[in-house]
Amino acid sequence: MSEVKEQGVIAGAENDSENLLVVRNLKKYFPIKSSFFKMTVGNVKAVDGVSFSIKRGTTMGLVGESGCGKSTTGRTILRLQEKTEGEVIFDGQDIFKLSKEELRKLRPRIQIIFQDPYSSLSPRLPIGEIIGEAVREHNIVPKEEIDDYITRVMEACGLQEWHKNRYPHEFSGGQRQRICIARALALNPEFILCDEPVSALDVSIQAQIINLLRDLQKQFGLTYLFISHDLSVVEHISDTVGVMYLGNMVEYSETEKIYSKPLHPYTMALFSAIPVPDPDYKMNRIVLQGSIPSPANPPSGCKFHTRCEKCMEICKTVSPEMREVEPGHFCACHLYDPDLDKTATSADTAKTEEKPADKTPDKEIAIEKETAGKESAKEKPADDPSKKDNGKSKGKKK
Ligand SMILES: Nc1ncnc2c1ncn2[C@@H]1O[C@H](COP(=O)(O)OP(=O)(O)O)[C@@H](O)[C@H]1O
Ligand code: SF4
Ligand SMILES: [Mg+2]
Repeated sequence: MSEVKEQGVIAGAENDSENLLVVRNLKKYFPIKSSFFKMTVGNVKAVDGVSFSIKRGTTMGLVGESGCGKSTTGRTILRLQEKTEGEVIFDGQDIFKLSKEELRKLRPRIQIIFQDPYSSLSPRLPIGEIIGEAVREHNIVPKEEIDDYITRVMEACGLQEWHKNRYPHEFSGGQRQRICIARALALNPEFILCDEPVSALDVSIQAQIINLLRDLQKQFGLTYLFISHDLSVVEHISDTVGVMYLGNMVEYSETEKIYSKPLHPYTMALFSAIPVPDPDYKMNRIVLQGSIPSPANPPSGCKFHTRCEKCMEICKTVSPEMREVEPGHFCACHLYDPDLDKTATSADTAKTEEKPADKTPDKEIAIEKETAGKESAKEKPADDPSKKDNGKSKGKKK
């Protein structure tokens, strides 16, 4: 998708001071090296021209099948890896034009929370140290206030002061995610990238963490980019939603609009798999044929054409423009090109299946299967009175 084609989503975004983040035509390619002489023989086009903006104090959800480029988009925005092309404007500054020192100063303002909190917490440090480490490094508060400050941050995240002396392995998955949130929050950030932050947790714990993130957003005016394959979770937390397919954004809108009236055939298929809690509701589930093509060798024209039930001849050769189909609702699909003759449809690449809602299999089937190691439902909340032992117990909280 060319730069011009995605401009619509962010037209004038840089001049709008309400936007904290503007991403313009972002590309991230990973070179494929040959075994001989390590020559570059191709590229994995993980992110292939993505544009969007996020207003201060709001949440944008990013959804799509596994491997469509969500995490790469997030990591490149944070400059955890270098871009191939494009711009990332954070509060008026292009992140990729910053010197090392400028980037170091900016780091506390942009934080990240991962899917697996355990691997991102040092097993040898107690929680107080884990949260305090970067607070000291970035001089967030005067030295003599650090201890009180960490206590306040922990309490805001549903943890207690006596947790400071405990180690990560003593906590359950939900509490470990609270620790990661506290560590991020302690740096007084404006923006937090949440990359599948609840995907490894049990559903009841997911709700607690999502509610915590929402409360903190209200309290501290935080801005989130929330990456998830779970459409129900994304609907719950997001103000706007972008749908990615094979490195491109194919649809973008306010959450309410996109969930009530998805426009892109891919979005329709994804959303048709969300279970409805009504046994009388007949679901028209669109089953996508085949798997997602390789980003190293994406299909020509519309990248979705190999799986699209509405594929037309033009789709096979011409990449669709991102256009504003209705106010604030953008979609990259030839079906919404007003100048196009759409009579010649082809390709029976997808089928529609009718299923009663209560027999719908796992809602993630049509989306992806990447939720590794679900946490047990046995988790106790951090303020469980039975744990108030003033730090003497070393028992695992699972
Ligand atoms: N460091 C890397 N080197 C090569 N390919 C990568 C690298 N990181 C991600 N990819 C590839 O880029 C594509 C997008 O990956 P990712 O952003 O992790 O997707 P998602 O988060 O949507 O599941 C995948 O095909 C993945 O294999
Ligand atoms: S452009 Fe064509 S192939 Fe692509 S989603 Fe639209 S109808 Fe389907
Ligand atoms: Mg990912």
